[in-house]
Amino acid sequence: MDAKSSPETRVKVGTISGGAGRAMPHDSGHLHVTGGAAYTDDLPEPRDLLHIAVGMSSVPHARIVSLDLSAVRAAPGVVDVMTADDIPGENNCGPVIPDEPIFAPALVQYAGQAIFAVAATSVMAARRAARLASISYEPLEPILDPLTAVEKESFVVPSETIRRGDSRKAIDSAAHRLSGRLHLGGQDHFYLEGQIAMALPREDGDMFIYSSTQHPGEVQHLVAAAIGKQSKDVVVECRRMGGAFGGKESQPALIACIAALMTWKTGRSCKLRLDRDDDMIMTGKRHDFVIDYEVGFDDSGRIQGIEFMFASRCGFSADLSSAINDRTMFHCDNAYYIGDCTIVSHRCKTHTVSNTAFRGFGGPQGMFGIEYVVDDIARYLGRDALEVRRRNYYGSGERDVTQYLQTVEDNLLEEITGRLVETSEYETRVSDIRAFNEQNPVLKRGIALTPVKFGISFTATHLNQAGALLHVYTDGTVHINHGGTEMGQGLFTKVAQVVAEELQIDLERIKITASDTSKVPNASATAASSGSDLNGKAAQAAARKIKKRLVRFATEYYGVDAAEVEFRDNAVRVGAQNVAFDEFVRLAWAARTSLSATGFYRTPKINYDRRTFSGRPFYYFAYGAAVSEVVIDTLTGENRLLRVDILHDCGKSLNPAIDMGQVEGGFLQGAGWLTTEELKWNERGELTTHAPSTYKIPACSDLPVDFRAEMFEPGRNREKTIYRSKAVGEPPLMLALSVFHALRDAIASVGGEGCRPPLTAPATPEAVLAAIEAVRSARASWFALTSPSPDSKENA
Ligand code: MTE
Ligand code: HPA
Ligand code: MOS
Repeated sequence: MDAKSSPETRVKVGTISGGAGRAMPHDSGHLHVTGGAAYTDDLPEPRDLLHIAVGMSSVPHARIVSLDLSAVRAAPGVVDVMTADDIPGENNCGPVIPDEPIFAPALVQYAGQAIFAVAATSVMAARRAARLASISYEPLEPILDPLTAVEKESFVVPSETIRRGDSRKAIDSAAHRLSGRLHLGGQDHFYLEGQIAMALPREDGDMFIYSSTQHPGEVQHLVAAAIGKQSKDVVVECRRMGGAFGGKESQPALIACIAALMTWKTGRSCKLRLDRDDDMIMTGKRHDFVIDYEVGFDDSGRIQGIEFMFASRCGFSADLSSAINDRTMFHCDNAYYIGDCTIVSHRCKTHTVSNTAFRGFGGPQGMFGIEYVVDDIARYLGRDALEVRRRNYYGSGERDVTQYLQTVEDNLLEEITGRLVETSEYETRVSDIRAFNEQNPVLKRGIALTPVKFGISFTATHLNQAGALLHVYTDGTVHINHGGTEMGQGLFTKVAQVVAEELQIDLERIKITASDTSKVPNASATAASSGSDLNGKAAQAAARKIKKRLVRFATEYYGVDAAEVEFRDNAVRVGAQNVAFDEFVRLAWAARTSLSATGFYRTPKINYDRRTFSGRPFYYFAYGAAVSEVVIDTLTGENRLLRVDILHDCGKSLNPAIDMGQVEGGFLQGAGWLTTEELKWNERGELTTHAPSTYKIPACSDLPVDFRAEMFEPGRNREKTIYRSKAVGEPPLMLALSVFHALRDAIASVGGEGCRPPLTAPATPEAVLAAIEAVRSARASWFALTSPSPDSKENA
């Protein structure tokens, strides 16, 4: 090992291609664009393969009175049919609490819930047959929105509260007070590759599963329990997903369990691939929220105390809702010191699909809450919104403790904001926009700068661990495997870069391999943005183990000191000699040196007590800020994103090309959530927006006309993460809060001083128009505005 220089400085030296810190293309980039990348549905199909379709509930809450599947069984091509009664093991795919049946037993709890599955010789035969079921229901009263659930105390897990100081007193004694109710929509993941699994029977009842999953280990465990086997009997593999975004953290288990159960029943390979509509109807999404707040603040806009009530739509089962709503409570400060506070979180049980992880994992919803509050304060006081935001930023040495009692030690927001204000010419543009709005009666512009502070680590401390497996072959090439999964985010490339850096060999020598439960066991989901933090370190540990053995071999074989052995530029320098890496490895093998090693990593420093919601849940924070400028048409509500400037902190980036892709992509996905993507359920509890015809994700034409994203330089994580990099997967999504507030700013120009537009999210043209009309009708009376009532929006 290179004893003289630290890992960070070594990133810069040497001539290997593709070490840490290099802007390398995604390892599968050429395959993505040529169609050569194999997704689960592209894998060669076994000769005996059957295709599965799922029979779903058409009602949200009911008892099944009768279930007649004879027509399904008799349909052409049908080989087998199964229901809850046929399950040999546990009828559960709930990841944390066993409250989510694979097939509904007597009770159905959402429109779209799986009741039975049919296996046939072709996809279409299975799908046609599934429609022939005759089911009669005894309807039960459904709960279809979070507020009704709160009223009826219908929760999937108990409500939680974080309290600091005396918020009531702080609010009452503040110079100013505001309160309001916010409505925030959910989001469908709209991964390009839908949910899919293929199960293959192996000898003696064992099972091999190809699953498009962020969590192969969980699929393994739940499949084993469903088919009445154990973890050792099931292997799960995933080479890549065509996008996941949190939608494949827990949801793939249902799909894989159905495929595995059908394979167990028929003895044949079985594949279940949901079509887009069924995928959107059957699988969970981002939680939509109703947020109540009351805040007290001083003349400068500084918050003295705040009370939040968060009510989220969890759907019919717990899924990951407990941790997701915890993260909401952890992020309802965003970048701000919120003083004395009471934060109440209700995890509402509704008779709708069970909601799940989505990029940000509840954090974005908490941040939406506080950003709205800070914006309201600024508008109420007639002060510049950015000035009020900065006034509330966490301090250093004082006002730097979060509501969960973690001290913010690494705050970069003053610096990031200061730089972004300059590079984006914020001040000039604010006055230009005011002038534009004076002169234009129809088109109005708006601008907003919003910060992001996002906690990195799974809040459940035990999940912050990872393993890796590394083999060096005698030709000097390397096989790397780890517990992480690839969903397009570039994790496999980044981990391979770490190995290249450690062994000082070219990236092309390293084979990146599929996630596989038989290679690395008990891995956490690739989630919480921590994939490269955890797996990068585990791979580094494995590489260092092998290097140590190789150094020892060299000292014995060449009779040199360990200090005289150095790995550099695809070679090993031993004393005065330079031995090519492949030659050196061959010699080490001949001297009977083990060239295979596992690596393990656990995040240091974190500790957190969920009973008191206090401690240090996060190893560090990732920071960023964005300025968005929009124009709206006040006659129609239509709008365009004109310009976006982003400055985002990736620490010392492992791969600036891939990380910038995450920054830009995350931002745009966030903009979709807050502007165009609208989920609607009708009064019968059916999701009515289950295809791209009615659900609008951002298209290329929705990109900002002028898009300037930059990385904060020189970034460096103050914690000892892998080469001092920072997680980047989720945080940039929340930069899109600036788009929402730019729209709000544009709308506010229609009203008078102190106007607070009651804009709901997503800010669709319809919502923008409604807010404009509310502002116009309230203008004469200078009325303090609050959001419209839930009914006016929800079932519109
Ligand atoms: N980027 C792409 N292209 N596709 C994805 O599915 N998922 C996001 C983010 N970026 C996702 C993505 C989510 S929700 C997370 S938690 C992280 O990637 C997970 O990967 P990482 O921990 O390796 O960053
Ligand atoms: N983030 C993302 N996914 C998770 C978490 C988290 O904090 N906890 C469990 N799954
Ligand atoms: Mo990401 S929501 O943590 O999978």
